[in-house]
Amino acid sequence: MKQHQLQMKPGTIVLSVGGSLVVPNGQIDVKFLRGFKKLIEAQVKKGWHFVIVVGGGGTARHYQQAAKQVGKLSAEDLDWLGIHSTRLNGHLIRTIFRQIAHLEMFNDPRKVPKKWQGKVLVAAGWRPGWSTDYVATMIAKRLGAKLVVNLSNIDYLYTADPNQDQTAKPIRAIDWPAFRKMVGNKWDPGMNAPFDPVASKLAASAKMSVILANGKKLANLEKMLLGRDYSGTVIS
Ligand code: UTP
Repeated sequence: MKQHQLQMKPGTIVLSVGGSLVVPNGQIDVKFLRGFKKLIEAQVKKGWHFVIVVGGGGTARHYQQAAKQVGKLSAEDLDWLGIHSTRLNGHLIRTIFRQIAHLEMFNDPRKVPKKWQGKVLVAAGWRPGWSTDYVATMIAKRLGAKLVVNLSNIDYLYTADPNQDQTAKPIRAIDWPAFRKMVGNKWDPGMNAPFDPVASKLAASAKMSVILANGKKLANLEKMLLGRDYSGTVIS
């Protein structure tokens, strides 16, 4: 299968890191954090600067599910539980990059400084109604970045859920109208779209590209940043 190459010199890249990479099931994946830290630090030495926006993962899901079992909650209540989970994970990421990170973690994407201290800036969830993909896209727009790399635990976007449908095929490249048809327009707290519908709308209107790639395969991410062949889906 034909692979992609990133046509971009080292600069600022916005990473939307799925919380399930950091907290897959309520336990923190220390092995992932070690590998991710090593990779980011090595790429920083090659000239990359990273905005890292981290999701809530298992922490968000567990809190949302527990609350739902106890009483009836509004979508907004559920989103706030998710938001605070992203902030906890964000603090974890900022802490592990302490030596090279901007001191403050940002929730409000409009407050992210265009010039920050250090090589890494960490952001987390902001307000109900979307996911950290939207925060990442807003920051990218603010910084004039044309690319968001969305890391999750899937290799590609598929024509159907590969866990349920054996005929599901990977999609290597897709345009925004076709992608938006797949994910729809509606936000649901805790929803698991490959890139959230609200973020997709903004990214499409700002003419950005989004790469969906598997964050567990750090060697693949490294290849991407080095301008070599990598696997993933490009939405543009
Ligand atoms: P994310 O959906 O960004 O986390 O935020 P995630 O872990 O990357 O998601 P998956 O499950 O791995 O794909 C978790 C939840 O926090 C709330 C939403 O409810 C979201 O589902 N949230 C997050 C907001 O309401 N607003 C935000 O700005 C961010």
